[in-house]
Amino acid sequence: MSLAPPHRRELRVTANEALGAYRVLRVAAPDRAPGESAPEPGQFAMIAAVERWGGGGDERPYLPRAFSIARCREGEWHFLLEDVGPGTKRLCELHEGSALWALGPLGRPFALPAPGGRAVLVGGGVGIAPLAILQDTLAGPAPVLLGFRDAAHAQGAALLQDALVATDDGSVGHDGRVTELLARELDSAEAQAGRQQPVVYACGPPAMLEAVRALCAQTGTPAQLALEAGMACGYGACYGCAVPRVDGRYLRVCVDGPVVDASELAEVVEPGAYGEVPA
Ligand SMILES: Cc1cc2nc3c(=O)[nH]c(=O)nc-3n(C[C@H](O)[C@H](O)[C@H](O)COP(=O)(O)OP(=O)(O)OC[C@H]3O[C@@H](n4cnc5c(N)ncnc54)[C@H](O)[C@@H]3O)c2cc1C
Ligand code: FES
Repeated sequence: MSLAPPHRRELRVTANEALGAYRVLRVAAPDRAPGESAPEPGQFAMIAAVERWGGGGDERPYLPRAFSIARCREGEWHFLLEDVGPGTKRLCELHEGSALWALGPLGRPFALPAPGGRAVLVGGGVGIAPLAILQDTLAGPAPVLLGFRDAAHAQGAALLQDALVATDDGSVGHDGRVTELLARELDSAEAQAGRQQPVVYACGPPAMLEAVRALCAQTGTPAQLALEAGMACGYGACYGCAVPRVDGRYLRVCVDGPVVDASELAEVVEPGAYGEVPA
């Protein structure tokens, strides 16, 4: 976990490829400073394009944006991008040789399962990104359950191996929610009780994460949730990403997360929708 920020580095884009409705942006990984470790699954970087990142006549100045490091392989970092606004749109336009600013790796990663623990990976939409590097890191095979809104987005499942897919519109895989696949998986895990305790690793939109949290709470399954929040700094300085914990205190998603133990939260809600601290 980085409490003080590493320095911002200028990196070069090596590729930008379409993956269904998403883009996979690859960049030359930064040289590591002495003592600095490689990205761990669940960590993220704050990214900005070096050129045309706001400030011009008709451009809005942007802060850097947070992105999960989806993969770290052969001297490159990979990011999975969904164009949802001006920052992601600009990053989706970058091409080989473009320069970007990157600050990271940042944040608390997934804790890998203890020996004998059985990981179950659950992702929704662009939230599948940190599950790819998690799958790369796990010692053995683990069920991968991914949910998307439609067939174009479901092509993102190719980022991981052997994924079971659900789509909201039923165009690919299971017709329904990914949490229905998870309920099935936990039922079958329960049937094998005594063999291996499943541990759920999830990342996706808040409604999906809340459904995962509630299901895991109901079935007594440990779960780690990779949260999203609007982030201005990414390293603990601005408190813009604070969300309430179950005990009424607050956690900063950028340094106390983005991965949190599900038991730390009373509920997962949309960023910006946190109102009263739960009783
Ligand atoms: C730890 C972390 C990891 C992330 N990983 C990825 C990733 O791998 N790939 C990816 O495409 N996106 C990821 N995101 C989300 C990404 O940071 C936002 O989509 C991006 O900041 C939007 O910027 P924009 O300028 O394109 O759009 P904006 O105009 O800033 O926002 C567009 C819309 O998205 C909403 N939004 C903006 N930021 C967030 C956010 N952080 N969480 C939820 N909603 C938001 C806004 O409310 C608005 O409705 C991650 C966010 C966090 C915090
Ligand atoms: S983004 Fe600034 S404290 Fe988390």
